[in-house]
Parts: sequence; structure tokens; C-alpha cells
Amino acid sequence: MTSPALTGADAAASALPASALPASTLFASENADGAAAARRAASRRAEPASAGLGFPTNTGAGEGADAAAPARTSTAELRQALPLVTVRDLSVAYDATTVLDGVDLDLFPGEMVALLGASGSGKSTLMRSLTGFAPISAGSVRVAGHDVTNLARGELRTLRSDVGQVFQQFNLIPRLSVMTNVLAGGLHGAGAINLVGGFSSAHRRRALELLDRVGIAHKANAPARSLSGGQQQRVAIARALMQQPKVILADEPVASLDPKLADSVLELLREIATEDGIPVLVSLHVLPLALAHSDRIIGLRHGRKLIAGATSQLDAAALSPLYDDEEHDDDAHH
Ligand SMILES: Nc1ncnc2c1ncn2[C@@H]1O[C@H](COP(=O)(O)OP(=O)(O)OP(=O)(O)O)[C@@H](O)[C@H]1O
Ligand SMILES: [Mg+2]
Repeated sequence: MTSPALTGADAAASALPASALPASTLFASENADGAAAARRAASRRAEPASAGLGFPTNTGAGEGADAAAPARTSTAELRQALPLVTVRDLSVAYDATTVLDGVDLDLFPGEMVALLGASGSGKSTLMRSLTGFAPISAGSVRVAGHDVTNLARGELRTLRSDVGQVFQQFNLIPRLSVMTNVLAGGLHGAGAINLVGGFSSAHRRRALELLDRVGIAHKANAPARSLSGGQQQRVAIARALMQQPKVILADEPVASLDPKLADSVLELLREIATEDGIPVLVSLHVLPLALAHSDRIIGLRHGRKLIAGATSQLDAAALSPLYDDEEHDDDAHH
């Protein structure tokens, strides 16, 4: 173990009753740290449930919930939070090669968690495990009520509609309008028939609300390919929200963007986590971005979790064991 201070804090936090710990320590615990965000999520849930159709963009709900200065919470509230994702002792193997080895992860409502690690350390594989795309050889994975290792017939589709995904390359359909791309996000649950029958006006209204929320309603009718990278990623985020996800996974969502756009896209994701109570797991390669835009950091190395802690307790030096020595985990990527 290269980082005893961090893993030690984790161990201490889980060995003690939560009430015995200061909040800063709790945030370093895998089981309790996500709950800062849960408090914010709880306050969000207390609002009228207008959220069924779209998210109000101009209510006072977001005021004071400035993502730059999220309010922390009491230990009692922390312990009330139920994780939306619970991964225990997860191992993934491709043929004879173990890619993830005994990984634990909890994601709580409302938190933004940065996933770090050298190329090949297993970040994308961990994300794929959450949507049933990785060969799980041991352990348990629960996502939004689904037991991913033991899905009922037809449940895979529900699982995937509960998980919004954002990718490095945006994955929009370039020739279609921004609006249509966002509407496509709602097709998960509706089935292909909607492609034929068109989209309902309620869906269109909601798509427009989401485009407004991500700041590009004025581009609704433009072909996706005519937008800048930062704008396209905002469309992709709106598309993910269209499916009313319970969890968002963003695999290197800003790797193709310049630093300023990267900041703004990550802030948008964090705002969504905060305001909607949706946990966002975001893999990143740029440490300052992770330190600036997450509540918590998980660091993988050679498929094992090496670091887990509150972002406020970490800095570049603490994260360096993820990257130092030899070459990258998988130098085929470089
Ligand atoms: N489908 C697959 N078949 C065989 N090996 C795989 C497969 N997918 C991933 N791997 C291996 O698993 C390891 C982890 O890959 P993964 O893509 O999860 O890393 P990563 O941390 O996301 O890397 P990067 O930062 O480059 O995106 C790598 O060694 C990779 O070669
Ligand atoms: Mg990857």
C-alpha cells in the first residue's frame, strides 16, 4: 500500500460509529462519504414533484445550492442516505486476465465522484460493470435497485435506462438535429415504435427544457455536427437526462475539450448531481479537474482500489501513487 494515510482514514471511518466521527473523516469512508451530496439531494426531494416532466430551470431551487460551495451535512443525515450504487468485492476477468480485483464502490444521491487511475487501470471496466457490459467473475453489483449479477429476464434494458451515460466522443448522431438527439435519449423506455410515430409534445417540451437547462436551447434545430465540442457534450448530457436516469456515468467526458470548456461541462454535471440528487461517476485523467470538480475521489491502480477519500482531503501529491513508477498499466494505450 503506497498511501497509508488514505486507506488508514478509510479503515478508521468504517470501524467507528458514524456519530463518533467528524464529518471530514466520514467523507473519507466508503460507506458514509457520499452522503454530503445526499443531504443536498434530500432537500431537492422535498420540493413539489414537478420533476416528473422536466426540471425547472428557473426556480429558486438551485439558489444557495451553489455547487462551488456545497453545504456539508450532519452525521445523522449522512447515515440516512442509501447508496444508489453498491459494488462489493468486484472482480472482472477477461479470459485469464484479471482487470478488476476486489473493488468496492458506493455512490450516494447527489454526489460527484471522480474516478482516477492510469490508462488500463480499469476505470472504463468498472463503469461497464455497472451496466452489465463486463464479465463479472466475483462480487456483487447493485445499481438503482438492480442486482447486476443476477438480472431478471428483461431487466437489463431497465437497468440501462436507469443509467445515463456520457462519453468522450459525445456519440451524437451528427446529421440529426440537437433536439432529435436529445429526444432519442427518451427512447430507452418507449421502444422503437416511437421512432415511427414521432415524439409527443410532452417529450418535445421536456427536451427543450433540458436543452435550456444545459444552455443551448437556441441550437435546438441545428444539426448536431454544427456544434462545438463543448456544446455537443451539453447535448449529450441533455440526452442522458431525457431518460430520467437514476445514476450518471461519464467516461472521460472532457478529454476532447479545451480546459475552459472542460471546467464548464464538469460544473454542469456537478450541478445536475447536486440539484437532482443523481450520483455522477466521472472518470478523468487531469488531476486538477478532479480536485476542482468532485466531492470524492476513487483511485484505481492495476484494477484495485488504491485511494478513496473526500476530495477536500486530497491533493496532487496524495494522488501521485496512482501514477508513479513503471509505465502505465496498459501502455498499449500510449
Ligand atoms: N473487452 C476486453 N477484452 C480484453 N481485455 C480488456 C477488454 N476491455 C478492457 N480490457 C483490459 O482491461 C484493462 C482495463 O481497461 P480499461 O479500459 O478499463 O482501462 P481504463 O482505466 O479505462 O484506461 P483508459 O484510461 O486508457 O481509458 C486493460 O488492460 C484492457 O486492455
Ligand atoms: Mg477508459
